Amino acid sequence: MPASILLISSDPALHAAVSEVLRSPSYTVSMALTPDESLARAAQSDLLLLDTTGNGATTLDLCRRLRGDPAMTSVPLLVVAQSDDVEERIRFLEVGSDDVIGRPFDGRELEARVEALLARFGRTQSLAPAPSILRTMPRQERRSIAVFSPKGGVGTTTIATNVAVVAGSRQPHGVVLIDLDLQFGGIAVHLDLAPRQTIVDLVHDEQGLLDPELLRGYTARHDTGLHVLAGTARPEQTELLGGDQLEQLLQTASRAYGTVIVDAGSNLDERTLQILDWADTIILPFHPEIPALKAVHSLLDYLNATGDIVGKCVFVLNNAFARQALRMRDIEQALGTRVAIELPYDPLAYLNAANEGIPVVIGAPRSGAAIHLTKLADTVLGDWGAAPASVEQQPKTRFGGLFGRA
Ligand SMILES: Nc1ncnc2c1ncn2[C@@H]1O[C@H](COP(=O)(O)OP(=O)(O)OP(=O)(O)O)[C@@H](O)[C@H]1O
Ligand SMILES: [Mg+2]
Repeated sequence: MPASILLISSDPALHAAVSEVLRSPSYTVSMALTPDESLARAAQSDLLLLDTTGNGATTLDLCRRLRGDPAMTSVPLLVVAQSDDVEERIRFLEVGSDDVIGRPFDGRELEARVEALLARFGRTQSLAPAPSILRTMPRQERRSIAVFSPKGGVGTTTIATNVAVVAGSRQPHGVVLIDLDLQFGGIAVHLDLAPRQTIVDLVHDEQGLLDPELLRGYTARHDTGLHVLAGTARPEQTELLGGDQLEQLLQTASRAYGTVIVDAGSNLDERTLQILDWADTIILPFHPEIPALKAVHSLLDYLNATGDIVGKCVFVLNNAFARQALRMRDIEQALGTRVAIELPYDPLAYLNAANEGIPVVIGAPRSGAAIHLTKLADTVLGDWGAAPASVEQQPKTRFGGLFGRA
């Protein structure tokens, strides 16, 4: 069923503009011209778009009346303000609007906000990312996936969260996401969860570390059916997790869940090596710039010396910043391996996701960001048992071109 958007406005030009932006089969846009008509039709809609052009006091009053109607509590209300004026935005937020967008607006921003609100209010298909990815995985399959980067701030947590949400939607209550970026992990924030217990509580419970059912009790539940073992907000507590406990945690989590996904952060220490060793697949995001590539290069050298870890890496080029200086062909040559997927730069989608605590695969499922993240999820969740097709070693060219090393 398409989401029905009710535009409350007497401006035909705005109707035309909104209909153009939301013209996909996922939406129907209709118009209510007067306050009485809006109040009569609002509760049957999936989202209200309230235009503030004209008499400001009347619109403010209408916004208040719409929000005051008990039948309207589950219908999101997005105000189209006359400008970007902060005072005007605050006035509308204070009387109960859920979001405000100022004129002139970019069509992509309007669509992103509409999608985020529909997702937040559960007015998309059961908060699921996209119908095409809702496949059920065979039950006997077990997956252990770590997301790690030798450099911080390149999207490790974003990728772990989105892949986990896709996995959790496909296999509700069969997937756990563990925040093992013990110093500055932020998975709970990325998913807008307020966990009652964290990994530190689990570490204090010897039995919980050994018993799959007890371990499940330490997780928080996301709407998609994903379970989350949250990290601690207090870095000094990370010392509590020793090597033996980490081993127990990973083994027990693998017995408790079909799929275990770990955000391993960006700090290469003993614990991280343990995680990389445990994982069947390692997603390795990096940014297309020389320092990031050098860090990946050093990591690969190190891992090559310590065992067969490189063969299970899935390399992800994440354009987390606006400027891209290097070409894909040079990057692959430098790394000596194929890059599985390139994630586009999309500040708006990620900004909304961060502010709302709704990963882009749910909040903006048709954005380029979501489409590519879903492809990445398909790559690592799809053909279990086979080595990731994207990883192809080309040892002769490693960093020769970029860093002058043959
Ligand atoms: N492709 C992208 N386009 C635009 N912004 C992005 C992209 N990928 C990630 N970001 C943004 O970059 C920031 C860092 O992402 P994230 O927190 O996932 O990285 P991280 O590697 O986990 O960082 P940290 O080292 O702090 O743990 C976030 O604000 C995120 O929204
Ligand atoms: Mg992180």
